Amino acid sequence: MVVDNKATITYVQLLKEDLVIMRLVPNDGIVPEYQAGQFITIGLPNPTEDNKIVRRAYSIASHPENRKYIELVIRWVRKPIPGRLTTQLFNAKVGDEISWIKPTGSALSINEKLPDGSKDERRIVCIGGGTGLAPFVSFAQHLHAVGDKREIIVLHGASYVDELSYKDLLTDLEDDSLDRGKDKWNFKYRASISRPQEWFNRSWGGQTGRVETFLRPKDGGFSPLEELIGDKITKDNTIFYVCGWQGTIDGVMDFMKPSGFVTQHDKRENGSFEVKYESYG
Ligand SMILES: Cc1cc2nc3c(=O)[nH]c(=O)nc-3n(C[C@H](O)[C@H](O)[C@H](O)COP(=O)(O)OP(=O)(O)OC[C@H]3O[C@@H](n4cnc5c(N)ncnc54)[C@H](O)[C@@H]3O)c2cc1C
Ligand SMILES: NC(=O)c1ccc[n+]([C@@H]2O[C@H](COP(=O)([O-])OP(=O)(O)OC[C@H]3O[C@@H](n4cnc5c(N)ncnc54)[C@H](OP(=O)(O)O)[C@@H]3O)[C@@H](O)[C@H]2O)c1
Repeated sequence: MVVDNKATITYVQLLKEDLVIMRLVPNDGIVPEYQAGQFITIGLPNPTEDNKIVRRAYSIASHPENRKYIELVIRWVRKPIPGRLTTQLFNAKVGDEISWIKPTGSALSINEKLPDGSKDERRIVCIGGGTGLAPFVSFAQHLHAVGDKREIIVLHGASYVDELSYKDLLTDLEDDSLDRGKDKWNFKYRASISRPQEWFNRSWGGQTGRVETFLRPKDGGFSPLEELIGDKITKDNTIFYVCGWQGTIDGVMDFMKPSGFVTQHDKRENGSFEVKYESYG
């Protein structure tokens, strides 16, 4: 039997008509324990279905050290027909009550140990497509809060510049890295816009194409990601975390497989792997 808890929507920031940042506070005031990279299941009664509760999973963008609220970034699914829960969510207001089931999921847990038991000190590269950035917003804030010393790069892919949902927060985290020095906090954030030819994106001067193009080698042999970090990426020095459309996962693997990278799903006999992912479909 599913045990639904109740929370209240305390904050709604509409980034555009079909993209929202929403905060929930459990009605008992206690934010549940969770790990960066996990998702929470939320639900609302659907009036077109006899008020049956429709539940869906959403990656948590806030970090476990934030005991004030759970933050989510949600796309209103409109095509081919309006989504059952997201249509309700986009009609919801601050103060409305919502059901939730405790956070879970291990696909995107931050790897702390290598198979031989030693600490995993590899560089962390997070690749988020669209709302698939959410788990990595949680990663970045968590790793910052605990003073993690690993090198961390967050790459976000979006169709439009106004969908760079956490640009300010992630730029601030990079600025903190510049201010305090890489030995204290080693963090970079970059984005790629996949529809650069569209008028709305005319001011964009950064990387273009889908987010996996950060991994495509250029003429000189280095990819834009390698140029950014000033190092050749190998399976011994980097672990990737990817969230987005299956095409994003496949695109990442198309670039990384030739270098011997394998996913956690296909880990080697000795338990080693270099890519963790969660796909939309
Ligand atoms: C682990 C996990 C984490 C997630 N995290 C996020 C997140 O952070 N942010 C986010 O926005 N989403 C996230 N999702 C997706 C989310 O769970 C929902 O799937 C999504 O919001 C759509 O829900 P919905 O009820 O609105 O759509 P649904 O009603 O479930 O519809 C889903 C799709 O099916 C189509 N469809 C439905 N019925 C029909 C039909 N009869 N014929 C043809 N097509 C149909 C819809 O048009 C839509 O494209 C996550 C999913 C998972 C599994
Ligand atoms: N963990 C999860 O399972 C999870 C997490 C978050 C969201 N979701 C669900 O995923 C759906 C869409 O997410 P979104 O709206 O955030 O994405 P989106 O904004 O439509 O797309 C984000 C980026 O991915 C690219 N893209 C689109 N289709 C692709 C494909 N087939 N292969 C590779 N790249 C592709 C887009 O490029 P173009 O500009 O070329 O289209 C864009 O650059 C929503 O229904 C959401 O609910 C699931």
